[in-house]
Amino acid sequence: MYQDETIKLLRNEFTQRLLADCGLEKGMRVLDVGCGSGDVGIMVAEMVGDSGEVVGFDISEDALSIARNAARKKHIPIVRFIQADISELPKNIGAFDAIIGRRVLMYQNDPAQSIDCLLPYLKANGKIIFQESDCMAASFHVDSMPLHAKVQNWTWGTVAKEGGNIHIGRQLYSLMKNAKLNILLTRAEAILHTSESGSDFGQVAKMMGPRMISQGVVTAEEISTSTLEDRLQLELSGSDTPFIRDMAFGICAKK
Ligand SMILES: C[S@@+](CC[C@H](N)C(=O)[O-])C[C@H]1O[C@@H](n2cnc3c(N)ncnc32)[C@H](O)[C@@H]1O
Repeated sequence: MYQDETIKLLRNEFTQRLLADCGLEKGMRVLDVGCGSGDVGIMVAEMVGDSGEVVGFDISEDALSIARNAARKKHIPIVRFIQADISELPKNIGAFDAIIGRRVLMYQNDPAQSIDCLLPYLKANGKIIFQESDCMAASFHVDSMPLHAKVQNWTWGTVAKEGGNIHIGRQLYSLMKNAKLNILLTRAEAILHTSESGSDFGQVAKMMGPRMISQGVVTAEEISTSTLEDRLQLELSGSDTPFIRDMAFGICAKK
């Protein structure tokens, strides 16, 4: 069965491969947009090495303090995490060889404007790389895995009610084209959750339960959190079709 850490590794593997294929290498200065708890920034710090530099920024002080602790524990001095909003970046952070962001455009009211705000910080030959998700597979499971289909709609419905754009993945290419960027690489991939591999979906759904209820997407009776994980596990183990939670899109471009 996928444990939390395993699925995180699979999701991070997509990011790592994307960034390596986009040409991130030793010595680069990289800006990590909406760095959250630092997973991507720390991964990139290892890619750019001691001769490189990573600046991660986020609006959330809570996330930043997790990121700073993680970098300290791993003894990575070339990464620093600062508090900033995309629309109000400090002028003195300089220019970057690469600007990257994962699952952050989905939370912007105007993602096109966010891209515009970032471009002045990109060097002339620099690369801008985004990874965003799309809930595109939600209707795929209705017949074969009805519980998964239902819970899938609850989870993405909650993200949407919280203001997240659940279709930003499919919009990413157009967003970057419309910003007059030259597209260098495009990619989309999904992780298949099967009866052999197991799934972390039950854990994710259970964790999101309180948010689903507070957003009014589902009632406590409907979701029955205490048995949810087991019911999902049972449905997956009896299914001969894979479950797909989302599709990850990655696009790399330059000015
Ligand atoms: C889903 S998390 C992704 C975190 C990280 N990129 C990752 O993939 O692990 C989105 C992050 O974007 C941050 N964020 C959202 N809007 C932002 C903005 N306008 N400026 C800076 N950070 C922002 C949030 O605080 C949150 O930490």
